[in-house]
Amino acid sequence: MKKFLIAKTTLLAVLLSSSVVLFFSCNSSQTITFQKDIAPIIHKNCTPCHRPNGGGPFSLIGYWDVAKRGKMIAHVTKTKYMPPWPADPNYSSFTDEKILTQQEIDLIQQWYKSGKKAGDTSLIKSPEILQYGSLLGKPDMVLNLEPVAIKNDNLDRFYVIKIPYQLGKDTFVRALEFVPGKPSLVHHMNGHYYKFSPSTNPFIGNKILTTGTENFSTEFKGFNLQNSDGSLPLRVHSAVNYLPGTYGIKYPIGIGGFVLAKNGAFMANDIHYGPSKVNTIDSSKLYIYFDKKPPQRPTYELMLGTNGVAPILPPLQIAPNIISKHVTQLEIYNDISVLTINPHMHLIGKKFKAYAIKPNGDTIKLINIPKWLFRWQYFYTFKNPVKIPKGSIIKVEAEFDNTIDNPNNPFTPPKLIAERLEFGGASMRTIDEMLQFIITYMPYHKGDELIDINQP
Ligand code: HEC
Repeated sequence: MKKFLIAKTTLLAVLLSSSVVLFFSCNSSQTITFQKDIAPIIHKNCTPCHRPNGGGPFSLIGYWDVAKRGKMIAHVTKTKYMPPWPADPNYSSFTDEKILTQQEIDLIQQWYKSGKKAGDTSLIKSPEILQYGSLLGKPDMVLNLEPVAIKNDNLDRFYVIKIPYQLGKDTFVRALEFVPGKPSLVHHMNGHYYKFSPSTNPFIGNKILTTGTENFSTEFKGFNLQNSDGSLPLRVHSAVNYLPGTYGIKYPIGIGGFVLAKNGAFMANDIHYGPSKVNTIDSSKLYIYFDKKPPQRPTYELMLGTNGVAPILPPLQIAPNIISKHVTQLEIYNDISVLTINPHMHLIGKKFKAYAIKPNGDTIKLINIPKWLFRWQYFYTFKNPVKIPKGSIIKVEAEFDNTIDNPNNPFTPPKLIAERLEFGGASMRTIDEMLQFIITYMPYHKGDELIDINQP
């Protein structure tokens, strides 16, 4: 009897130990590796900026790039400092959202704590963005901007650069992308497109102009943009824009785009370079993507607030030492499908929220930025077009913090900060304020809500 008992416990021990072995072996097959678990997260959410010529201070591509910064990466992802994505994902969501799920954050933690295993790195595919420096793929035409010499004087600079081109014939354009040469210095760029009259030569005229000069509009004439009768040619406003972390937007075939005349020029208007401590040269580029067919669904732009069609109330004059709330709103007279939105404020911006109230009182949530980050101002594109029915009111609520507690306040002690209207438009200087909400939309067609914006 006793013998039998012993045998039974031994059996139990064997069973137990084998299950322990089983447990461990099953765990080891789930080892978290760079190749299997971490590279896909990094390549989607980090590499677009952390690559050569990206805006990030170092590359995050291969195993060693990431492993040697494992501790810092575990920290910045846990605290949600990186990737920078100021919009509240619980309010509304967008394509190319750079935001890690809790599961992805945890995976990075576990990978770091379990010794940063590499896995079979030969299986890792090179991230798509590395091939052309664009998420839109291979451009059909590349225009090089005149190189700009940047001195080591630690000052901001603003330039207007003419980018002429000649094509054999009128050509349909589907997408444009501005590719900065020195993304760590290029803060923003608003590009317009000018359609020349056949008699004008786009290659004549100044190519670079420093803005902020006394007589800006007279000097602008040096660009030789005018038609032979002195009038200015047709202009496509904001044909291509750039802000840090943004890439060109390619809507599905047939949506957006415009016709590029066989002669013309883009104007990189107010290309803003931040301060540099070293002498350097920026050679930025414009990537152009052609289309075989003319655009069937043209897109339009609505701008609320500064320089726009809807006033800011109360006006944007922010007294020192206060937190100030402002609203701008607009009634929509036709059904529209909203594709992309761009909230814009400067340094003392604190919060930004935009939504539409339908005639029946329902709310359509557009965007909520609970903690404004001046550094990260994206063009947010919806996954599916958002229908706003006619009679709705689009409303923007913004808050500015002009107190000493705001670490981004450009003045100590705080002083009056306002929207300054000069040159027929608002001052773009970062120390002045702006409140803008730009909406790219198309007139609504039945079924627009079902269009997948990411489809090729
Ligand atoms: C939109 C561009 C962008 C994306 C996306 C991005 N970064 Fe960054 N990252 C930057 C820039 C620019 C800096 C330099 C600091 C700054 O400007 O805020 C930076 C700084 C860092 C730093 C250094 C922080 C420090 O304190 O010095 C780390 C680490 C980092 N990023 C990791 C990541 C990781 C990991 C991801 C993806 C999960 C990521 N970043 C995504 C642009 C980006």
